[in-house]
Amino acid sequence: QKMDIGLVGLGVMGENLALNLARNGFGVCGFDLDSAKRNSFGQRTQGLKAQAAASLVDLVASLQTPRCVWLMVPAGAAVDAVLEQLSPLLSAGDVVMDGGNTLYTDTQRRMQALEGTGIHYVGAGVSGGEEGALHGPALMPGGATEAWPRLKPMLQAIAAKTDGGEACCEWIGPGGSGHFVKMVHNGIEYADMQTICEAYWLMHHLLGMSPAEMSVVFHEWNQGELASYLIGITADILAHTDPETGSALVDLILDTAEQKGTGKWASQIALDLGVTAPTIANAVFARTVSGLHAERAKASKVLPGPAARAAGPRDAVLGQIKHALLASKICAYAQGFSLLKAADREHQWQLPMGTVASVWRAGCIIRAHLLEDIRASYERSPDLDNLLMDSHFAGVMGRCHQDLREVVAMGALHGVAVPSFMSSLSYYDAYRSARLPANLLQAQRDYFGAHTYQRVDRPGKFHTRWNG
Ligand code: 6PG
Repeated sequence: QKMDIGLVGLGVMGENLALNLARNGFGVCGFDLDSAKRNSFGQRTQGLKAQAAASLVDLVASLQTPRCVWLMVPAGAAVDAVLEQLSPLLSAGDVVMDGGNTLYTDTQRRMQALEGTGIHYVGAGVSGGEEGALHGPALMPGGATEAWPRLKPMLQAIAAKTDGGEACCEWIGPGGSGHFVKMVHNGIEYADMQTICEAYWLMHHLLGMSPAEMSVVFHEWNQGELASYLIGITADILAHTDPETGSALVDLILDTAEQKGTGKWASQIALDLGVTAPTIANAVFARTVSGLHAERAKASKVLPGPAARAAGPRDAVLGQIKHALLASKICAYAQGFSLLKAADREHQWQLPMGTVASVWRAGCIIRAHLLEDIRASYERSPDLDNLLMDSHFAGVMGRCHQDLREVVAMGALHGVAVPSFMSSLSYYDAYRSARLPANLLQAQRDYFGAHTYQRVDRPGKFHTRWNG
């Protein structure tokens, strides 16, 4: 009996996705270069319609036609290496889907290379970590539209479901749009994580709270409008005690953040497309400065900070931090969606913004209560200039911006770095300013480089000999 889908790359994500497919009744053939992974797959899928292939040739032979092959190998050279061996084995009408965290331009390059073969190439964002892969990830497929009818029943069956039973998997659009959307998801993920870290750090420095006390607060916040997967896991992490030492495990973890590059790509591409995304970019910079561990240790003994001062009453400060978190999160989403809008304009993908928000409601790392409101706002106005301009979000910002200001000021006055809070506030204030000091900047450019400027009172380009 032929299999429905082949899965290449049986690492944690690949194996769990394959198990998810098999559990949902699809026949899966798995392949990995590592024989230990092939054996483990064979064992874990006993009793299910699944098998491990000893080679790519065997994998392809096991599949019903048109064939469907899902790649879950590390993004980059490994995808090219697999494609080089795989594509000669496939025929017109077959589907290849790359589910890694691939740079969207790589996906576009691979699509171009396959042009004329009739192979339908898809780049799919997959989010939700190993648990998600096994029990329901969010999936963001994009690329060759012809592939969607073949993929849809399988992907929607294994995807996470919202409370209303909707599958968190919809077709995103042509070209590299699926991987682009996943990259933006990760940019927002970076911003979200960093903002939560800053809230935690303020609770520690200003309020002297223990991780266990903070866990209670995050748990409480997770019941309301801040409810999200990342707030929930933060509550769990802060409650976790190291069995050997009895201390909070979080206190024993080295404060050097690692990264695989998706947040950096989101920031780089924001710069390329001229999109203002400072909360996302600062979340990346927060990781890079954390990497300067030895330098920071030296600098902490040399560079002066502010004098010690008392913080306000705990409950009041916590209320302000809560609002700052919400406001900053909305700014990060506004930046992410602006990035999607700019890419859409550039590539003419016709990205369905409401659908993107809808797909992110469950299964993925940034899943949050707020996404239902984002979905609704794009449903009301699909051409929204900026999420901040939606009446609902403008209202939330109206309620929270003062507390964001207070929290940024607290960080500044106590010498606690809060780059994501600060950049969100500057983003908000710049965006809501009818006039910015760029008039002076234009004058400076014209002064030293005769770059010309425009005037507010008459049309045309002007140049002034500023120094007489
Ligand atoms: C997801 C995540 C995942 C990502 C990790 C690690 O949606 O499941 O985005 O794809 O690989 O979060 O990313 P960093 O190593 O860059 O933090």
